[in-house]
Amino acid sequence: MIQRYSNITILLLCWILRAESFAQPNNKNGRTTRIRQSICSTTTTTSTSVHASLNNNDSSISERRKFLSHAMGAVATMTGISSTTIIMMPSQALAQQPQQPTPGTTSAAVTVPPQEPNKYGVASNKRLGGLSNKIRNICKTMDEMQRDLMQERWDLVEQYPAQLRSYVPLLTAYTDSAFPSEAPSDWGLRVALRYEVGRYFGCLERLKSAVAKRNLSEAYVAYSDMSLHLDRYLRVGGIYTFYDNVIDNEKYFAEYDSALVYSDPIKDPADVRDLVVLCKGPDKGKTGIVIGIYQDGSETCAVKLDRYKGMREIRVVPRNWAAKRLGEQEPDDVFLIPRKAS
Ligand SMILES: *[C@@H]1O[C@H](CO)[C@@H](O)[C@H](O)[C@H]1NC(C)=O
Ligand SMILES: *[C@@H]1O[C@H](CO)[C@@H](O)[C@H](O)[C@H]1NC(C)=O
Repeated sequence: MIQRYSNITILLLCWILRAESFAQPNNKNGRTTRIRQSICSTTTTTSTSVHASLNNNDSSISERRKFLSHAMGAVATMTGISSTTIIMMPSQALAQQPQQPTPGTTSAAVTVPPQEPNKYGVASNKRLGGLSNKIRNICKTMDEMQRDLMQERWDLVEQYPAQLRSYVPLLTAYTDSAFPSEAPSDWGLRVALRYEVGRYFGCLERLKSAVAKRNLSEAYVAYSDMSLHLDRYLRVGGIYTFYDNVIDNEKYFAEYDSALVYSDPIKDPADVRDLVVLCKGPDKGKTGIVIGIYQDGSETCAVKLDRYKGMREIRVVPRNWAAKRLGEQEPDDVFLIPRKAS
C-alpha cells in the first residue's frame, strides 16, 4: 500500500514538474533537471500513457494547470508534506523522495526534455504578494521610529533596532523569490537588492551609536540614510506599484503648482521636522517633511514625501529646493500613528 502511494507520488511530482517546465521554458538549472530526470525515469512505464494523452498543445496547458491544483492537494495528503512546501521548493521535496530504479527504463528517461520548472511554482505570485505586504510593514515601523525620534523619545527609539533586524530574513526571502533565476537580469537585481539591505543595516548601526550618544542631528542623518536605502530597495524590488504612471502623477501634482505658499528656502531654510514643498527640480510641487540635513558640506537634505498610494518616497535634494510650507498645515502623518500602550 505504502509502496503504491509512493509510486503515485513520484508520478504526480514528475508530472507536475513537466507541466511547470512546459509553462516556464526559459528557466535553466542543471541540478534540478537531473534530479527530475532520474525521478521521472523510475515511473516511465506508468507515465508514458499519461504523457501520450497530453500533447504539447496550447489549449492543453490550462487543462494541466487545472489538474495541477488537484494533484498538489493529492500529493500533500499522501506524503504528509504541506502543499506549500512542494510548491515552493520542488527540488528539495524531490530530493527527499525515495528513488527506486526500475530495470529497462533508462532509454525512456532520455526523452524527458531538458527543461526546468519554475523554482517557485504556481504559488509564486501569491507568495510574492504576501512578502511585499510584509515588507510594507517595515515602512510602518520606520514611520513609528520617525515619530519617536522626532519627539526625542530616546527610550522608545532604542527599541527599534532589534525589531528592524528581525526583518532580515524577510528581505532576503523577497529578494530570492522576486528574482529567482540565473538570468543576468535577475542576478544583477539580486546583487543590487542585497547591497541596499547591507547599507540599510549599516546605517542602522550608525543610528544605534547616535542614539547611544543622544546626538539628534547625527541620528536624523542615519535615519535618513536608512530610509533612502529602504526606498531604493522598494523601487528596485518593484514594491512601489505606481511607477511610470505619468498621467496619474501629473493630475496628482498639478494642483500644487500655484496653490502652495512657501517661504524663501535661502533666507529661511527648512530644518528637520519642517513640512516642505519642493520648489525646484523634477519633483517640483511635491510635499513632504524634512527628515535629515546632511552635515557633509553637500548642502543637501532628505525629504520624505507625503503618502501617495500608501507609500512615502524619499528624496535627497539641495536644501534650497525644500521650501517651508506656510500657513496652517496638517501634521505629518507619522504623528497621527497611535502609540501602542506598553
Ligand atoms: C489541441 O487541443 C484542442 C482541444 O483540446 C484540439 O481541438 C486540437 O485539435 C488540438 N491540436 C493539436 C495540434 O493537437
Ligand atoms: C553630534 O555629532 C556631530 C558629528 O557627527 C558633532 O559635530 C556634533 O557636535 C554632535 N552633537 C552633539 C550635541 O553632541
